[in-house]
Amino acid sequence: MMDKKEKASAPKVPTGDARRRFFLKAAWGGIASFLLGSAVVFARFFYPRVLFEPPTRVKVGKPSEFLPGTVDTRFKDQYGVWIVRDDENRIFALRTVCTHLGCTPNWIESRNKFKCPCHGSGYLRNGVNVEGPAPRPLDRYKITLVDDGQILIDKSVIYRSVADKDPDETNPQSILIV
Ligand code: FES
Repeated sequence: MMDKKEKASAPKVPTGDARRRFFLKAAWGGIASFLLGSAVVFARFFYPRVLFEPPTRVKVGKPSEFLPGTVDTRFKDQYGVWIVRDDENRIFALRTVCTHLGCTPNWIESRNKFKCPCHGSGYLRNGVNVEGPAPRPLDRYKITLVDDGQILIDKSVIYRSVADKDPDETNPQSILIV
């Protein structure tokens, strides 16, 4: 038999009612969490998922800003393009993507060629592949002269090169004559 003191210090065992109330609260808590989660997902549905991409049409300046016989590397990082003006005043926009596995080559002025750091492919200034595993020349973007006299590069139009073919002949429309 427990005496009065022992009875007072013994842990309280929940009665049937208290247990029922506890489970009821837990169940309502679960339902409330589920409804709240669903409401958040539902509300999120009405907000567009916006993807900010760099512009595909970019102005790079007037032809006079590109000297004959030079490769302009100013737009490589920002727009992924090299602007080349040859000695015959033909301008074209080379895509800065190696045609082997997509690395970004570098223009090496002292060697007069583009060199890919990944597997060593080399390209002449007109984009023709001359060494390494690259299977074809560099691609070119569409290039035009617009009303304000600037050169516009349209990156949504890519003139794809063909293996063992001169890109000037494959894609004559990739050249702007100034
Ligand atoms: Fe350029 Fe392989 S990705 S050589």
